[in-house]
Amino acid sequence: MNQLQNGHAEPSAETASTDFGLDQIRDFAVQVQSRIASGPIVPNVKPDEIRDYLSSRYDFSKTIDLNEIIADVERMLSTWQVQVTHPRYFGLFNPSVTIASVIADTLVAMYNPQLATWRTSPAANEIERHTLAWLAAKFGLPADSASNFTSGGAEANLSAVVVALTRIFPGYGDKGLRALSASPTFYLTGEAHHSFAKIAHITGLGRDALRTIATDSDLRMDVADLVKQVTEDRNNGFAPFMVIGTAGTTAAGAIDPLPELAQVCRREHLWFHVDAAWGGAAVISPALKQHLNGIDAADSITCDAHKWFSVPMGAGMFFCRDAGAVAEAFRAETSYMPAKTRGATSDPYTSSLQWSRRFIGLKLFLGLAERGESGYAEMIERQTRMGEFLRESLRSTGWTVVNKTPLPLVCFNRDGVDIDRFLSNLQERQIAWMSQVRIGGVPAIRACITSFRTTEEDISEVVAEMNGLL
Ligand SMILES: Cc1ncc(COP(=O)(O)O)c(C=O)c1O
Repeated sequence: MNQLQNGHAEPSAETASTDFGLDQIRDFAVQVQSRIASGPIVPNVKPDEIRDYLSSRYDFSKTIDLNEIIADVERMLSTWQVQVTHPRYFGLFNPSVTIASVIADTLVAMYNPQLATWRTSPAANEIERHTLAWLAAKFGLPADSASNFTSGGAEANLSAVVVALTRIFPGYGDKGLRALSASPTFYLTGEAHHSFAKIAHITGLGRDALRTIATDSDLRMDVADLVKQVTEDRNNGFAPFMVIGTAGTTAAGAIDPLPELAQVCRREHLWFHVDAAWGGAAVISPALKQHLNGIDAADSITCDAHKWFSVPMGAGMFFCRDAGAVAEAFRAETSYMPAKTRGATSDPYTSSLQWSRRFIGLKLFLGLAERGESGYAEMIERQTRMGEFLRESLRSTGWTVVNKTPLPLVCFNRDGVDIDRFLSNLQERQIAWMSQVRIGGVPAIRACITSFRTTEEDISEVVAEMNGLL
């Protein structure tokens, strides 16, 4: 038995695989990227076309050579998909992905580590813990905070609401909401992510428990309206328990006034959650982190690695300063799981929503380790500069920018432009992928720099081609 087999040695060059085929994977990924970048962005396909194709080829009654299937699936993916990693995809936070993160997902699939318990996957659990602790410190959370990777932002937001309910209403865990003497209410703006409506439904709070707070002209939460609604609800016998501030709203990239929200929450004994699913990555940029001031006072934070950290889906993160509340919310005991390892370890199945867990965190770890913090910050700042370039290019050619954010998300419109028709034209001609939003009730085009590969040249060409459509 060599040292690694008995579990005590460090992995060495001798024992670790040296034949991962890194160069081949890298070459293949680079090839795919350049094929995507020079191809169409938006597919033109109807459901029946794909369904007929699949049923004509794959009834699973005979075997097919794996190479042939892979080539076919790749053809389907390259033809029948919005290419979200295209440098002209200005989309809904779906990023281009780093090669390191692609390799990480390949490694994870090969080893298939099970992270439910520490004991089963010590290396993977510690790599996740290490990576999360680094980011928690960037957010200014204390070292004993709890954190875990999630499938995405919606799961992280659900975790936050469950933990908040557990901490604020001690009977909630065992007796449920029906045992509470007053109905809980929670507070966000109309710009917050709509996962919270589902979460209200799933948790049994009910969608009516959501209180929509007014926003100012920059779409940030109006703190006076928050205080007024909390007071009114208390006077009317409700039990306010949580405020959700968003750092980088989905439609317009607005950042709620986090320091003021933190103050209100402290004074009113409300749980303060910050949904920084996209914008949270700005915390590692020396130039941008000031915009997240106040996030260090959050009770819990959502931040997605599969957004601005440029790793493949699904990779969300949940952070919480109250590790005791997290342990209480997700506690589980059963004899069929391996016994807890002694010492300062924790078993993720007892401190998070998932049970069986994929090694989600490797893609962020590998990317960070390869580029370093400053490399990542440069990537984020570069995208921010591209956002500014887009904003200026649009303004200088007669478009009106209708949102205000330091992040690379631009909402814009122009008198006389029918946005539906304009966006269809943009897509049909494969100029770019952008979406439509309503800002203050007014329709606008939304373009977010989600690819670290988007260049000034891409932007100049897109804006010129857009202007040619007018
Ligand atoms: C602000 C915000 N929160 C949460 C989510 C949900 O994240 P996910 O799609 O990773 O579940 C999104 C998705 O875009 C988002 O923009």
